[in-house]
Amino acid sequence: MRVHIGTIHRRGHRRIVGALSAALLCTAGVTALPAAADAPHTPGTTDTAHTSRTAAAPRLPDGLAQTPPMGFNNWNSTQCRAEFNEEMVKGIADLFLAKGLKDAGYQYVNLDDCWALPTRDGNGKLVPDPRRFPHGIKAVADYVHAKGLKFGIYTSAGIKTCNSAGFPGGLGHERSDAQQFADWGVDYLKYDNCNNLGVDAKQRYRTMRDALKATGRPIVYSICEWGENKPWEWASDVGHLWRTTGDISDSWSSMLGIAKQNLPLAPYAGPGHWNDPDMLEVGNGGMTDTEYRSHFSLWAMMSAPLLIGSDLRKATPETFEILSNKDVIAVDQDALGKQATVLKSDSGRWTLVKQLADGGRAVALFNETGQPQRITTTARDAGLPQSAGYRLRDLWQHRDTHTTGTISATVPAHGTTVFRVTADKRWASYPPAVETGIDHAPLVEAGTPAAVRSTVRNLGGTPASDLTVTLKTPQGWQSKATTPATARALAGGRTLTTSWRITAPAGTAPGAYDLP
Ligand code: GLA
Repeated sequence: MRVHIGTIHRRGHRRIVGALSAALLCTAGVTALPAAADAPHTPGTTDTAHTSRTAAAPRLPDGLAQTPPMGFNNWNSTQCRAEFNEEMVKGIADLFLAKGLKDAGYQYVNLDDCWALPTRDGNGKLVPDPRRFPHGIKAVADYVHAKGLKFGIYTSAGIKTCNSAGFPGGLGHERSDAQQFADWGVDYLKYDNCNNLGVDAKQRYRTMRDALKATGRPIVYSICEWGENKPWEWASDVGHLWRTTGDISDSWSSMLGIAKQNLPLAPYAGPGHWNDPDMLEVGNGGMTDTEYRSHFSLWAMMSAPLLIGSDLRKATPETFEILSNKDVIAVDQDALGKQATVLKSDSGRWTLVKQLADGGRAVALFNETGQPQRITTTARDAGLPQSAGYRLRDLWQHRDTHTTGTISATVPAHGTTVFRVTADKRWASYPPAVETGIDHAPLVEAGTPAAVRSTVRNLGGTPASDLTVTLKTPQGWQSKATTPATARALAGGRTLTTSWRITAPAGTAPGAYDLP
C-alpha cells in the first residue's frame, strides 16, 4: 500500500497532502472456532470443463512431454560468454540435486547456442567447441544422466544458428545431426529459426521431426520459430512445444508483454503440445522478487515450460525459493494440461483461472499496476461446482483457509496472489479467509490528524476468533484506533470496521510512501 504526499497551495499556505491507502495486518492470526458437526455442505456437482480446441488436433504419438518440460537452459544468463562451458553445465546438474530442484520436478539440463565450432568436420559432423567442452558433448550428457537427469541441446532450422559467429545449423543436415544428437544421448532439442533461407517453416520443422523419430531415441522437440508462422495452428504433431513470441529479456515490460501475447493461445495447449512463452528470467537481477514471483506464477498458470534461465551457482536463497515452490509447480504440471484463461482483465487487474485435474481451479489474481489493487472473484465465476464452502490454498503463503465463495486479495504492485480452490467437504476444518481493506482513501495533510476506516471481512462460514487489527504506518507516523480493533469472534460474512486517527509528521516530504 502506498501514500502519496504532494504539495498544493490552499488559502495562501503551502501544504503537504496525500491520498492515503493503508495496509492492515491481523496480528493474532485468525482461527476458526470448531465447526458445527452438521455444517451445511452441498457436494460438488457437475464440472464445467471446456472442450479444448486442440482436443481433436493431431498429436505426436510418442507420449513425451505429457506435462510442460522443466529444467535449465543457459541462454538467459550467459548468452555466448565464456562462462557457458562444461563446468557450468555440470555445476547446474549438481545443484539440481543439492538444492532439491530435481525433487521439485526439474529434469532437463539444456545447452543453447554457441556450444559448437563454426565449421563441421570432414564428415559433415558437428564439432563441440573444445574450449567450452574439452571432453566433448557426450561426456557432459553422461554426467547429467548419471545424476538421473536429462540432457538437451540446441541448433537452428537454418544453415547457421542465430549467433553472429555463425555456428552450423541443421538445414540440409537433419538426418546426420539428429543421429549425432541421439548418439550423444540427447533427450531434448531446441530447434531455432535463424538463417532459414526462406524455406517453408512447416517443411523445415517436419523434416527434423522425422529425423529425430528415425533415430529411435525419445527426444523432446522444442520448436523455436518465435510464433512467426503460428505454430499453435499446425505444430501439435510436429513438436512438443513451440515458442509463441520473440525472445524474453530480464525486464518487467518484456515479461509482461510476452505473457499478454501467450495468454490468448490457451486453447492450443495440452499434454504433449505446449505454448512456450520462452525461458524463465527468475533470478537474473532485472526484476524484483515480487515481479519474479509474478513471472513464475504466470508461467505456471499458462502451463509453460519451466526452464530456469539463471546461473544457479550464483542464485540467492529467494531465487531458489521461487523456483522450488512446489505448490506453484503443481499448477504448471497438473495432469489435465489446461492453460489458464483470462476470466477478467480490468485496468491492470487480472483474474486468471486454470482448470485442474482434481476438479479444482487455480486462480491467479495478478496486479499489473504500480499500486496495490483489490482483485476479487468468486468460486462460481472460476467454474467451481456449487458447494457450501471451498478450501482456499494460498500458493505463495502455503496456507489453507476456507471461503463460502468470495476469492479476494489486495495484491501488491506487480504482485500475484495464487489460490488453489477446491470444493472440499472438510472446508470448515480450515480457518476462514479474511479480507482486509480501507473503506476510503482520505487526503492526508502532514502534521494534522486524519481519519481512516479499516475493514476486516470474514469470507468464511465459521467465526473468526481472537481478531486483532493493526494498522501499520511508516516510521514516525502515529496511528491510533478510535473504535475497537479487536474482536473475540467475527461471524462468517461479517465485517469488523475500525476507525483510526493517523498523523504524518509535520515536514513529511512530498512523495509516495509504502504502508507495509
Ligand atoms: C534465438 C532464440 C533464443 C536463443 C538465441 C541463441 O534468439 O530465440 O532463445 O536460443 O537465438 O542465439
